[in-house]
Amino acid sequence: MLSPFWNVFVITLVLVNIFACLWLIRFANRRKKDEVAAGEATGHVWDEDLVELNNPLPRWWLWMFYLSIIFGLGYLVLYPGLGNFAGTLGWTQASQHQAEVDAARAKYGPLFESLAAREITDLATDPKALGVGRRLFLNNCAQCHGSDGQGARNFPNLADNAWLWGGSPEAIKKSIMEGRTGMMPGWSAALGGEEGVTQVTEYVLSLSGRQHNAELAELGKPRFMLCSACHGPAGKGNPMLGAPDLTDKAWVHGASRGLIAANVANGVGGVMPAHKEFLGEEKVHILTAYVYSLSANP
Ligand code: HEC
Ligand code: HEC
Repeated sequence: MLSPFWNVFVITLVLVNIFACLWLIRFANRRKKDEVAAGEATGHVWDEDLVELNNPLPRWWLWMFYLSIIFGLGYLVLYPGLGNFAGTLGWTQASQHQAEVDAARAKYGPLFESLAAREITDLATDPKALGVGRRLFLNNCAQCHGSDGQGARNFPNLADNAWLWGGSPEAIKKSIMEGRTGMMPGWSAALGGEEGVTQVTEYVLSLSGRQHNAELAELGKPRFMLCSACHGPAGKGNPMLGAPDLTDKAWVHGASRGLIAANVANGVGGVMPAHKEFLGEEKVHILTAYVYSLSANP
């Protein structure tokens, strides 16, 4: 609601503008008609030989102008526009939005309900359910996880078999419903600076069978004690903490030697927002089946 001053200000501004347009067009039209005959030169010359003729505004153009003024006034009677006046139709943005939401719910509600009543493993092999899940995914998840679910740097790939928080239907559903916050602090100081970071990085590379410096990796191995609290003694990860398996080929935060070293030194983290309130359990259930179907699991 506008305060009384702004209310009057807006109403005055709108009406003065409309009537000023009306006045302007009548004024501009009449003056020339009075002074010079139609089609004659008005006496205005530019750039030596550019002459203005008094050609009256075309009738259809004038009428369009008048009609748009009438339309504008009619609009202001029916819809909100004149300060606090709500318009005789009582239309609001909020009521239109609510009506659309209600219509969509009435149309798709039964479909979501019937899909949500089925097992996730069952939905994950049903092309129709996956079609619905895919559309939900494109609208709500693709901006972070990519349209094919393959993720990007710092956003985990959902289409492989490597999971931070677990790949069972229950774990995936929990990730989507409640969100996840993964956090690893930097280890630069605890590892005694760059040398320690380099050694443990070579050891991490050796875990997934990548090309590495065996001598440095050997020195990094005892340092990995520090890491095993979360990543496990063998580096297999821990889904309770969202700590990734370091022995597979999947990397969330970058696969190159330089990025791995930087991540170990400085730490990494990620936040998966909770979708329980926003989407509701039925849609999350269908999405879970879609995500589950992306990896080789089913
Ligand atoms: C307190 C638990 C904890 C400890 C201790 C820990 N990490 Fe992590 N680490 C994590 C978590 C959690 C993540 C994933 C963070 C995220 O993205 O949400 C992670 C991610 C990583 C990554 C990135 C993996 C990827 O896919 O990009 C590397 C590399 C890594 N850790 C190596 C180490 C090394 C080496 C150590 C020991 C020096 C270590 N971590 C110690 C919890 C830990
Ligand atoms: C704002 C970006 C963002 C959006 C939107 C988003 N996610 Fe995530 N998601 C993430 C991040 C970041 C992580 C990793 C969290 C961590 O580091 O532990 C994640 C993790 C996950 C995980 C766990 C992955 C694992 O390896 O355990 C699942 C499952 C998931 N997201 C599914 C979804 C689905 C389905 C949607 C759509 C409803 C969605 N996400 C929307 C950013 C997002």
